[in-house]
Amino acid sequence: MEKLLEVKNLTTCFVPEGREIPLVDNVSFFINKNSVLGFVGESGCGKTMTALSLTNLLPGKNCKIISGEINFKHQTINQIKEKDLKQIRGKEITYIFQEPATCLNPVLNIKEQLAEVARLYRPEIKPEQTNQFLIKQLEQVGISMPAEKLLAFPHQLSGGEKQRVMIAMSMIPRPALLIADEPTTALDVTIQAQILLLLDKLKRETGVAILFISHDLNVIAELSDYIAVMYAGQIVEFAQAKKLLANPRHPYTQGLFECLPKKEHNQQNKLKAIIGEVPKSGNFPEGCRFHPRCPVKFDKCAQAMPPLFKLNPDQEVRCWLCSD
Ligand SMILES: Nc1ncnc2c1ncn2[C@@H]1O[C@H](COP(=O)(O)OP(=O)(O)O)[C@@H](O)[C@H]1O
Ligand SMILES: [Mg+2]
Repeated sequence: MEKLLEVKNLTTCFVPEGREIPLVDNVSFFINKNSVLGFVGESGCGKTMTALSLTNLLPGKNCKIISGEINFKHQTINQIKEKDLKQIRGKEITYIFQEPATCLNPVLNIKEQLAEVARLYRPEIKPEQTNQFLIKQLEQVGISMPAEKLLAFPHQLSGGEKQRVMIAMSMIPRPALLIADEPTTALDVTIQAQILLLLDKLKRETGVAILFISHDLNVIAELSDYIAVMYAGQIVEFAQAKKLLANPRHPYTQGLFECLPKKEHNQQNKLKAIIGEVPKSGNFPEGCRFHPRCPVKFDKCAQAMPPLFKLNPDQEVRCWLCSD
């Protein structure tokens, strides 16, 4: 398998008045071509900051990449000029987010918004071909009556349709990597399932690789080839999806599993949430950052931070229980 993206020791900090508060702490992972990496962890763990770091889309000038390497197609893209990065961001690497409505312009119809992206990134499409091209793009993302929908304004579409339009927009440049940050979180469960099927279809049909971010292990489980579990700014487990789902090793990953509602959910089989909260950045505990919430912690866990232990070529776990 050929790597499309490889992130090595990425640290992104919030830097108010000369202080450095890590939001993403020494994170390493990779995404193979035409595969899906699922990123999971509770809200506030640093998933979005990691995703935004990849193309330096960080909010404000107080959030900065402090160290690390982001290699994309054999180029270290965190060390190139903004002008060159612009050739990659929005073209080779595109994003979709939780709230499609906030990414669409309310005063332009769908056609005007999609045509602008086509004009920028698909100059080979002639003006007289644009309408037909855009209808095809909407068909590809499962929008019914595409010719009519092209003329609609965002508020005339349902939440699911808006997200489909955003997916169409993000696919027009034919990206090598699509970053989908909680793309189904704002949608009903049935629509959510349809969007997951759509992303899987696009991956198969176009060869795009996907970084799929969700706080919900359920959502990423089926689609992902690899899974990275994030906790308090760090990756605590990184593994082939099959291995992680069959045998989750970090107590936090196991906790995320227990949060999944079970089909035969009853009194005996109660949904057990992980007790407590994700620590705030700048306020991480000593030792293993998960230890205050960990049901199987022992003395060492409060004293020293465990490294990522490689259990096999396809599974790494940041837990002292995996140290031998
Ligand atoms: N604009 C910002 N400036 C400083 N810190 C931020 C900003 N946005 C988010 N954070 C902090 O960064 C950490 C990681 O947040 P985020 O990446 O959004 O988490 P997730 O996507 O996993 O929910 C959190 O502690 C959050 O409070
Ligand atoms: Mg987020």
